[in-house]
Amino acid sequence: MIRNASAAINCMTGAARKAARGLLRDFGEVEQLQVSKKGPGDFVSAADHRVEKVLRTELKKARPDYGLLMEESGVVEGADRHNVWVIDPLDGTTNFLHGIPHFAISIGLVRDGEPIAGVIYQPLTDEMFWAEKGNGCFVNERRLRVSSRRKLEDSVIATGIPHQGQVDHGAFLKQLQVAMVNTAGVRRFGSASLDMAYVAAGRYDGYWESGLKAWDIAAGIIMVREAGGYVSEINGGHDMLNSGSVVAANDHLHLPLGVMLRSAGN
Ligand code: IPD
Ligand code: CA
Ligand code: CA
Repeated sequence: MIRNASAAINCMTGAARKAARGLLRDFGEVEQLQVSKKGPGDFVSAADHRVEKVLRTELKKARPDYGLLMEESGVVEGADRHNVWVIDPLDGTTNFLHGIPHFAISIGLVRDGEPIAGVIYQPLTDEMFWAEKGNGCFVNERRLRVSSRRKLEDSVIATGIPHQGQVDHGAFLKQLQVAMVNTAGVRRFGSASLDMAYVAAGRYDGYWESGLKAWDIAAGIIMVREAGGYVSEINGGHDMLNSGSVVAANDHLHLPLGVMLRSAGN
Protein backbone atom coordinates (compact mmCIF):
# COMPACT_ATOMS: atom_id res chain seq x y z
CA MET A 1 0.00 0.00 0.00
CA ILE A 2 1.41 3.38 -1.00
CA ARG A 3 0.41 6.33 1.17
CA ASN A 4 -1.27 9.19 -0.71
CA ALA A 5 -1.80 7.07 -3.84
CA SER A 6 -5.27 6.61 -5.33
CA ALA A 7 -7.29 3.39 -5.19
CA ALA A 8 -6.42 2.72 -8.86
CA ILE A 9 -2.67 2.99 -8.20
CA ASN A 10 -2.89 0.80 -5.12
CA CYS A 11 -4.73 -1.86 -7.06
CA MET A 12 -2.08 -1.75 -9.82
CA THR A 13 0.86 -1.84 -7.42
CA GLY A 14 -0.81 -4.62 -5.41
CA ALA A 15 -1.28 -6.72 -8.55
CA ALA A 16 2.33 -6.09 -9.65
CA ARG A 17 3.74 -7.09 -6.26
CA LYS A 18 1.69 -10.25 -6.14
CA ALA A 19 2.71 -11.27 -9.67
CA ALA A 20 6.35 -10.43 -8.96
CA ARG A 21 6.65 -13.12 -6.27
CA GLY A 22 6.36 -15.90 -8.83
CA LEU A 23 8.54 -14.01 -11.28
CA LEU A 24 11.38 -13.76 -8.77
CA ARG A 25 11.14 -17.46 -8.02
CA ASP A 26 11.22 -18.20 -11.74
CA PHE A 27 14.24 -15.92 -12.25
CA GLY A 28 16.17 -17.95 -9.69
CA GLU A 29 15.27 -21.07 -11.66
CA VAL A 30 16.28 -19.48 -14.99
CA GLU A 31 19.72 -18.68 -13.61
CA GLN A 32 20.13 -22.41 -12.99
CA LEU A 33 18.75 -23.34 -16.42
CA GLN A 34 21.45 -21.36 -18.29
CA VAL A 35 23.76 -24.32 -18.18
CA SER A 36 21.16 -27.02 -18.87
CA LYS A 37 21.03 -28.58 -22.37
CA LYS A 38 17.41 -27.70 -22.98
CA GLY A 39 17.91 -24.06 -21.98
CA PRO A 40 15.35 -21.83 -20.31
CA GLY A 41 13.22 -20.89 -23.40
CA ASP A 42 9.96 -22.77 -22.73
CA PHE A 43 10.24 -22.14 -19.04
CA VAL A 44 10.41 -18.38 -19.62
CA SER A 45 7.38 -18.25 -21.84
CA ALA A 46 5.45 -20.16 -19.15
CA ALA A 47 6.69 -17.61 -16.57
CA ASP A 48 5.37 -14.80 -18.79
CA HIS A 49 1.92 -16.36 -18.89
CA ARG A 50 1.89 -17.01 -15.15
CA VAL A 51 2.56 -13.34 -14.40
CA GLU A 52 -0.10 -12.21 -16.83
CA LYS A 53 -2.66 -14.51 -15.27
CA VAL A 54 -2.08 -13.09 -11.78
CA LEU A 55 -2.27 -9.51 -13.07
CA ARG A 56 -5.42 -10.22 -15.00
CA THR A 57 -7.16 -11.87 -12.05
CA GLU A 58 -6.20 -9.10 -9.62
CA LEU A 59 -7.14 -6.24 -11.93
CA LYS A 60 -10.45 -7.86 -12.90
CA LYS A 61 -11.26 -8.32 -9.23
CA ALA A 62 -10.70 -4.61 -8.57
CA ARG A 63 -12.32 -3.23 -11.74
CA PRO A 64 -14.57 -5.93 -13.26
CA ASP A 65 -15.80 -3.70 -16.10
CA TYR A 66 -12.49 -2.45 -17.49
CA GLY A 67 -11.12 -3.92 -20.71
CA LEU A 68 -7.67 -5.53 -20.99
CA LEU A 69 -4.96 -5.46 -23.63
CA MET A 70 -2.30 -8.03 -22.76
CA GLU A 71 0.85 -8.99 -24.62
CA GLU A 72 0.30 -12.73 -24.20
CA SER A 73 -3.50 -13.13 -24.16
CA GLY A 74 -4.56 -10.24 -26.40
CA VAL A 75 -7.72 -8.19 -25.97
CA VAL A 76 -10.52 -8.78 -23.49
CA GLU A 77 -13.33 -6.29 -24.10
CA GLY A 78 -14.89 -4.73 -21.00
CA ALA A 79 -18.43 -3.47 -20.40
CA ASP A 80 -16.74 -0.12 -19.75
CA ARG A 81 -15.56 0.99 -23.19
CA HIS A 82 -13.49 3.89 -21.88
CA ASN A 83 -10.95 2.22 -19.59
CA VAL A 84 -8.40 -0.41 -20.60
CA TRP A 85 -5.55 -1.98 -18.63
CA VAL A 86 -2.56 -2.34 -20.94
CA ILE A 87 -0.22 -5.05 -19.65
CA ASP A 88 3.28 -6.29 -20.36
CA PRO A 89 3.78 -9.08 -17.82
CA LEU A 90 7.52 -9.29 -18.41
CA ASP A 91 9.29 -6.46 -20.21
CA GLY A 92 12.88 -7.41 -20.81
CA THR A 93 12.27 -11.06 -21.73
CA THR A 94 15.64 -11.49 -23.41
CA ASN A 95 17.38 -10.27 -20.25
CA PHE A 96 15.26 -12.59 -18.10
CA LEU A 97 16.00 -15.52 -20.39
CA HIS A 98 19.74 -14.90 -20.08
CA GLY A 99 19.72 -14.37 -16.33
CA ILE A 100 20.44 -10.63 -16.73
CA PRO A 101 18.86 -8.78 -13.80
CA HIS A 102 16.99 -6.04 -15.66
CA PHE A 103 13.29 -6.56 -16.36
CA ALA A 104 9.93 -5.27 -15.18
CA ILE A 105 6.20 -5.73 -15.00
CA SER A 106 4.38 -2.86 -16.74
CA ILE A 107 0.71 -1.91 -16.27
CA GLY A 108 -0.84 1.14 -17.91
CA LEU A 109 -4.36 2.45 -17.51
CA VAL A 110 -5.55 3.99 -20.78
CA ARG A 111 -8.74 6.08 -20.79
CA ASP A 112 -10.25 6.93 -24.18
CA GLY A 113 -6.90 6.30 -25.84
CA GLU A 114 -4.80 8.31 -23.37
CA PRO A 115 -2.55 6.82 -20.68
CA ILE A 116 -3.75 8.24 -17.35
CA ALA A 117 -1.95 6.00 -14.85
CA GLY A 118 0.99 3.63 -14.91
CA VAL A 119 2.98 1.25 -12.76
CA ILE A 120 6.37 -0.21 -13.71
CA TYR A 121 7.78 -2.59 -11.13
CA GLN A 122 11.38 -3.79 -11.14
CA PRO A 123 11.20 -6.67 -8.66
CA LEU A 124 14.95 -7.25 -8.26
CA THR A 125 15.54 -3.71 -6.98
CA ASP A 126 12.07 -3.44 -5.43
CA GLU A 127 11.55 -0.16 -7.27
CA MET A 128 7.87 0.55 -7.79
CA PHE A 129 7.60 3.37 -10.32
CA TRP A 130 4.12 4.86 -10.55
CA ALA A 131 2.38 7.91 -11.91
CA GLU A 132 -1.09 9.24 -12.27
CA LYS A 133 -2.37 12.13 -14.37
CA GLY A 134 -2.25 15.33 -12.33
CA ASN A 135 -0.71 13.65 -9.28
CA GLY A 136 2.97 13.34 -10.22
CA CYS A 137 5.42 10.49 -10.67
CA PHE A 138 7.09 8.48 -7.89
CA VAL A 139 9.40 5.60 -7.14
CA ASN A 140 8.02 3.94 -4.03
CA GLU A 141 7.18 7.06 -1.97
CA ARG A 142 9.80 9.40 -3.47
CA ARG A 143 8.75 12.01 -6.00
CA LEU A 144 10.55 11.88 -9.36
CA ARG A 145 11.61 14.60 -11.78
CA VAL A 146 13.23 14.28 -15.19
CA SER A 147 16.85 15.44 -15.43
CA SER A 148 17.67 19.11 -15.90
CA ARG A 149 20.46 18.72 -18.48
CA ARG A 150 20.15 21.20 -21.31
CA LYS A 151 22.74 20.10 -23.84
CA LEU A 152 22.60 17.00 -25.99
CA GLU A 153 26.37 16.68 -25.82
CA ASP A 154 26.12 16.19 -22.02
CA SER A 155 23.25 13.71 -22.23
CA VAL A 156 22.99 9.97 -21.81
CA ILE A 157 20.28 8.62 -24.09
CA ALA A 158 18.70 5.15 -24.02
CA THR A 159 17.39 3.31 -27.05
CA GLY A 160 16.24 -0.09 -28.28
CA ILE A 161 18.05 -1.93 -31.07
CA PRO A 162 15.73 -3.73 -33.50
CA HIS A 163 16.44 -7.47 -33.42
CA GLN A 164 16.05 -10.32 -35.91
CA GLY A 165 12.72 -10.14 -37.70
CA GLN A 166 12.14 -6.46 -36.95
CA VAL A 167 12.17 -4.07 -39.89
CA ASP A 168 14.41 -1.16 -40.78
CA HIS A 169 17.78 -1.93 -39.28
CA GLY A 170 19.27 0.60 -41.73
CA ALA A 171 17.16 3.48 -40.42
CA PHE A 172 18.16 2.60 -36.84
CA LEU A 173 21.85 2.57 -37.73
CA LYS A 174 21.56 6.10 -39.12
CA GLN A 175 19.85 7.29 -35.93
CA LEU A 176 22.53 5.62 -33.83
CA GLN A 177 25.21 7.31 -35.87
CA VAL A 178 23.86 10.82 -35.21
CA ALA A 179 23.30 9.95 -31.54
CA MET A 180 26.89 8.70 -31.20
CA VAL A 181 28.36 11.96 -32.41
CA ASN A 182 25.93 14.34 -30.67
CA THR A 183 25.48 12.89 -27.15
CA ALA A 184 27.62 11.83 -24.18
CA GLY A 185 26.56 8.21 -24.58
CA VAL A 186 23.92 5.76 -25.77
CA ARG A 187 22.60 2.89 -23.63
CA ARG A 188 20.66 -0.26 -24.61
CA PHE A 189 19.47 -2.09 -21.50
CA GLY A 190 16.65 -4.16 -23.04
CA SER A 191 13.45 -3.08 -21.29
CA ALA A 192 11.45 -0.27 -22.89
CA SER A 193 9.27 0.28 -19.82
CA LEU A 194 12.34 0.68 -17.57
CA ASP A 195 13.96 2.94 -20.18
CA MET A 196 11.00 5.28 -19.78
CA ALA A 197 10.84 4.95 -15.99
CA TYR A 198 14.56 5.84 -15.90
CA VAL A 199 13.91 8.96 -18.02
CA ALA A 200 11.21 9.90 -15.50
CA ALA A 201 13.73 9.32 -12.69
CA GLY A 202 16.34 11.56 -14.36
CA ARG A 203 18.76 8.63 -14.80
CA TYR A 204 18.64 8.87 -18.58
CA ASP A 205 18.23 12.29 -20.17
CA GLY A 206 16.24 10.86 -23.06
CA TYR A 207 15.11 7.73 -24.91
CA TRP A 208 14.00 6.80 -28.38
CA GLU A 209 12.80 3.64 -30.06
CA SER A 210 10.58 2.48 -32.95
CA GLY A 211 8.58 -0.70 -33.51
CA LEU A 212 7.22 -0.80 -29.95
CA LYS A 213 3.82 -2.06 -28.84
CA ALA A 214 1.25 -0.27 -26.68
CA TRP A 215 2.08 -2.51 -23.67
CA ASP A 216 5.77 -1.51 -23.83
CA ILE A 217 5.02 2.20 -23.40
CA ALA A 218 1.51 2.91 -22.02
CA ALA A 219 2.73 3.15 -18.42
CA GLY A 220 6.00 4.87 -19.38
CA ILE A 221 4.29 7.69 -21.27
CA ILE A 222 2.29 8.92 -18.27
CA MET A 223 5.37 8.45 -16.08
CA VAL A 224 7.63 10.70 -18.15
CA ARG A 225 4.89 13.33 -18.50
CA GLU A 226 4.12 13.40 -14.78
CA ALA A 227 7.83 13.73 -14.03
CA GLY A 228 7.85 16.92 -16.11
CA GLY A 229 9.12 15.46 -19.40
CA TYR A 230 7.76 15.23 -22.91
CA VAL A 231 6.90 12.21 -25.07
CA SER A 232 6.06 12.14 -28.77
CA GLU A 233 6.57 10.04 -31.86
CA ILE A 234 9.94 10.56 -33.54
CA ASN A 235 8.14 12.46 -36.33
CA GLY A 236 6.63 14.77 -33.68
CA GLY A 237 3.12 13.22 -33.75
CA HIS A 238 1.27 11.91 -30.71
CA ASP A 239 -0.06 8.53 -31.80
CA MET A 240 2.66 6.58 -29.93
CA LEU A 241 0.39 3.76 -28.72
CA ASN A 242 -0.52 2.87 -32.30
CA SER A 243 2.68 3.72 -34.17
CA GLY A 244 5.11 2.35 -31.57
CA SER A 245 7.48 5.26 -32.24
CA VAL A 246 8.71 7.13 -29.16
CA VAL A 247 11.07 9.93 -28.23
CA ALA A 248 11.01 10.94 -24.56
CA ALA A 249 13.15 13.52 -22.76
CA ASN A 250 13.13 16.49 -20.43
CA ASP A 251 11.67 19.79 -21.65
CA HIS A 252 15.06 21.15 -22.84
CA LEU A 253 16.12 18.09 -24.78
CA HIS A 254 12.90 16.73 -26.28
CA LEU A 255 12.93 19.07 -29.25
CA PRO A 256 16.66 18.83 -30.11
CA LEU A 257 16.59 15.05 -29.69
CA GLY A 258 13.67 14.78 -32.14
CA VAL A 259 15.39 17.14 -34.60
CA MET A 260 18.60 15.11 -34.32
CA LEU A 261 16.79 11.82 -34.99
CA ARG A 262 14.85 13.24 -37.93
CA SER A 263 18.10 14.54 -39.39
CA ALA A 264 19.02 10.85 -39.78
CA GLY A 265 16.29 10.68 -42.40
CA ASN A 266 13.26 9.33 -40.57
C1 IPD B 1 11.01 -5.66 -25.56
C2 IPD B 1 11.84 -4.78 -24.68
C3 IPD B 1 12.99 -4.17 -25.45
C4 IPD B 1 12.52 -3.44 -26.68
C5 IPD B 1 11.66 -4.34 -27.55
C6 IPD B 1 10.50 -4.90 -26.75
P1 IPD B 1 9.77 -7.73 -24.33
O1 IPD B 1 9.88 -6.18 -24.85
O2 IPD B 1 11.08 -3.73 -24.14
O3 IPD B 1 13.74 -3.26 -24.68
O4 IPD B 1 13.65 -3.02 -27.41
O5 IPD B 1 11.18 -3.57 -28.63
O6 IPD B 1 9.73 -5.76 -27.57
O7 IPD B 1 9.75 -8.59 -25.54
O8 IPD B 1 10.96 -7.96 -23.49
O9 IPD B 1 8.48 -7.71 -23.59
CA1 CA C 1 7.78 -5.49 -23.90
CA1 CA D 1 6.90 -8.93 -22.64
